[in-house]
Amino acid sequence: MDAAQLVGHDVLHIQGGRPVRGSLLVPGDKSISHRAVMLGALAKGESFLRGLSEGDDVARTLNAVTSIGAEVCVTKTGLSIKGGQHRLHEPDEVVYLGNSGTSMRLLTGLLAGFKWFSILQGDSSLSNRPMDRVIEPLKKMGAVIYGRGDNRFPPLAIKGGDLDGIDYTLQIPSAQVKSAILLAGLRAKGNTRVTELVPTRAHTEELLKLFGADIRVENLANSDLPKFGGNVIHIAPSFLHPVDIDIPADPSQGAFWVVAGCIVPQSEVLVSNLYSSRDRLGFVDVLLGMKASIELDDENCHSVNIKASHSAMCGTEILGDQIVSVIDEIPILAVAACFAEGTTVFRDLGELRLKESDRIESIYQMLRAFGVQVEVGEDELLVVGGMPLSADVTVDSFGDHRIAMAAAVAGLAREGSTEIKGWSAVNTSYKGFVRDLNSLIQPMSFDG
Ligand code: S3P
Repeated sequence: MDAAQLVGHDVLHIQGGRPVRGSLLVPGDKSISHRAVMLGALAKGESFLRGLSEGDDVARTLNAVTSIGAEVCVTKTGLSIKGGQHRLHEPDEVVYLGNSGTSMRLLTGLLAGFKWFSILQGDSSLSNRPMDRVIEPLKKMGAVIYGRGDNRFPPLAIKGGDLDGIDYTLQIPSAQVKSAILLAGLRAKGNTRVTELVPTRAHTEELLKLFGADIRVENLANSDLPKFGGNVIHIAPSFLHPVDIDIPADPSQGAFWVVAGCIVPQSEVLVSNLYSSRDRLGFVDVLLGMKASIELDDENCHSVNIKASHSAMCGTEILGDQIVSVIDEIPILAVAACFAEGTTVFRDLGELRLKESDRIESIYQMLRAFGVQVEVGEDELLVVGGMPLSADVTVDSFGDHRIAMAAAVAGLAREGSTEIKGWSAVNTSYKGFVRDLNSLIQPMSFDG
């Protein structure tokens, strides 16, 4: 019998107490996949994308670009997208984006560039996530956008076109907001300049360059502004050409297995071909700071293999500008903290309340269900590690894929059973999680 099994379609049952050993290739990076699909739709000609994320979120973006006239075909090795402004048109129907915040925010920027009327709608979680952060700069560029709740929430009605370039400083460090403005800037009159005081993931800039956009990134590291150096991104109106790309594996998905290797006794896991950039590998720095046993082989500067083995760990503090580089990894780092001696303090987590669930609250509830001593504040969490977790536990995913997967890893790391309700949330990003989990689990127990 497999150690992890679906009960019905929405509950995962895990029997903990066995080491995880072996190597894995996790799915293609979700953030890069969204952007590659959108830029493929804008580029004139046929782009070939291999290694795309297979989750529902990227499928929403694929449906969205199809609904505006791009042609998506399955090839032997991945997908091809025929795009170009000559074939794109106003969507005939409401564009439904399910749970995908990245699709909604980036597409709002893309659609703002066209003289069409579009309506973007999400599920109940997405309908309560703030969109004013993209609406406000796009309106300044000349787009007309309405949203529910005094122009704050989806559904969004967008009438785009005739945009002017903008000089905008991000109010919150958000790659989604930055990307929405850059996508609109592609079709604005004049140049657009986005300043980010804290660096955020740079996939949009990297891919825009690859697709031939007139874009330049100026690093502020030497100025006396922020500690790690922010960036000013300059983009001019541009036509894109098609590309042929391999999408590297998703570090945010790899993080679950890296932490599993670190906290499950007698384990050793190798996760290969992860997109390697400091803005996505903050979790490795945090785990190293907790004295985890992790080795990185970064011979190839575009991707990295990470080997994680079980060892004693200690608590740490994670706060300030560092949060951006681990924004999606806080749930799994909170699980790691349960197995580290001492207290781990997470501060400046305010943005986590606005994710697929209120992640401060859902992490708190998940750890409490495992019997962990945890304190919660408005934007902080304190996790007391090194104590035994409860043996038989039922937890909720709160409809949030990253909470579900973090709970699964916690469930593996001690003897006893775990039931995770609302497991299907995982489909938004990692449909093969249970298969990969079972491929790593070894037949012996911790007692040997
Ligand atoms: C993402 C950026 C982050 C991250 C999200 C994906 C992206 O969101 O949490 O999962 O692909 O740009 P914010 O930009 O809101 O911080």
